Amino acid sequence: MAITTLPDLLDKMWQDYTAMNPQPLKIYNLFLERGDQVQNDHIAFRTFNHPKVNVDTLAQPFLQSGYEYQQDYHFVEKKLYAKHFEHPDTQMPKIFISELKLEEFDDDLQNAIQQLVNQVPEESTQQFDFCSNGRPWEVSYDIYEKLRVKSEYAAWMAAHGYRPNHFTVFVNALNSFNDIREVNEFIKLNGFKMNDSGGEVKGSKEVFLEQSSTLADTVEVDFSDSTHAVPACYYEFAQRYLKPDGNLYQGFVATSADKIFESTNKSQ
Ligand code: NI
Repeated sequence: MAITTLPDLLDKMWQDYTAMNPQPLKIYNLFLERGDQVQNDHIAFRTFNHPKVNVDTLAQPFLQSGYEYQQDYHFVEKKLYAKHFEHPDTQMPKIFISELKLEEFDDDLQNAIQQLVNQVPEESTQQFDFCSNGRPWEVSYDIYEKLRVKSEYAAWMAAHGYRPNHFTVFVNALNSFNDIREVNEFIKLNGFKMNDSGGEVKGSKEVFLEQSSTLADTVEVDFSDSTHAVPACYYEFAQRYLKPDGNLYQGFVATSADKIFESTNKSQ
């Protein structure tokens, strides 16, 4: 069955994400066992700023489903650009899509990425669920490793392709926790590792958003020449604060997201 509606797309993405990464579903179920309701704050995607498969390409199904562009973000050090989108129904997850700025890398990386994108059938990018169809190219482990030296983000894209990079628990909606620190303690107590780059909690009440994340699950990936265990996806936690105007802050904070990106680094 072709996926043509937003509810079906969201369902497919959650099924694929939890099938590939054991960690998020285990944590999700731990929250349910406590009697908490889990609301999804946002889903994040990655791509390249290539004309064929950039942020705007991945945003299409969401824009067609009522989402609206809100704000953009620059990550100078990681050479990334991102946009976030919101749905008029505030229960729906926000969508955060980033792209790697290829022109800021050397010819080797640009050529390697071009080799990958060349394998993407042009018409496939117009499919409603392209953003969750996984990796549309063959890539060797050698290329993966070479990319990783220059950009962990590029390597992650090469290995995993188009799929949610993470889902995010909206901490405010968890009734049995007072704040994100209590959530982090609970996650660690249950044996999961948190990303502590830049401190476990990124952001602050002053910027109206605090975030934390697990370290990505390591999964076996079939490369064109061999199979290797590499970092896949992680689970994120977000606590939002009221702005002076009395509304909950709905945006993102670039300096925090910058560190969250490192949740998929192999070196950690
Ligand atoms: Ni996120």
